[in-house]
Amino acid sequence: MTGHARARLADEVAKAIDNKNSEKEILETAARLIDESSDGYDWTGFYMVKNGQLEVGPYVGLETPHKTIQLGEGICGAAASLKETVLIDDVNADPRFLACSITTKSEIVVPLMDGDTCIGEIDIDSNRSAFFTDEDRRVLEEVAKVVVDRLKSIGYTPQA
Ligand code: SME
Repeated sequence: MTGHARARLADEVAKAIDNKNSEKEILETAARLIDESSDGYDWTGFYMVKNGQLEVGPYVGLETPHKTIQLGEGICGAAASLKETVLIDDVNADPRFLACSITTKSEIVVPLMDGDTCIGEIDIDSNRSAFFTDEDRRVLEEVAKVVVDRLKSIGYTPQA
């Protein structure tokens, strides 16, 4: 996808999930479109806050050993606790990192915020070092908003 098209990713996701009426379909569709938007996204998926922990949702990429992650663990747990996007240029230099694949070099985790509550997150791994930029952050934060809006409009109830 070109830079110009990437800037419209949130609109594209919003349009594609508008007729999806289950959490699974919404997140599957969003994960696929996000993944397709960049050659450097090598694992693209969702973790949702359920039963007091992060539980893996739909994703595109190799199977992850991390089906559940505690809120204080990993880069994923850090983003959920901080309620902020966490962008890691070199995952191997970060002691919090939980490896899904040994080829992962950089990672971005963008929380799905409903007001003050983190209901889940978008997690993306790249096999390239320092792959994620402020533009990825900006675009993905917009995507997170449209996903939360759609989940709320189908009556999704966070299970914190
Ligand atoms: N790297 C994440 C774990 C999830 S897998 O990458 C899919 C973390 O450190 O929390």
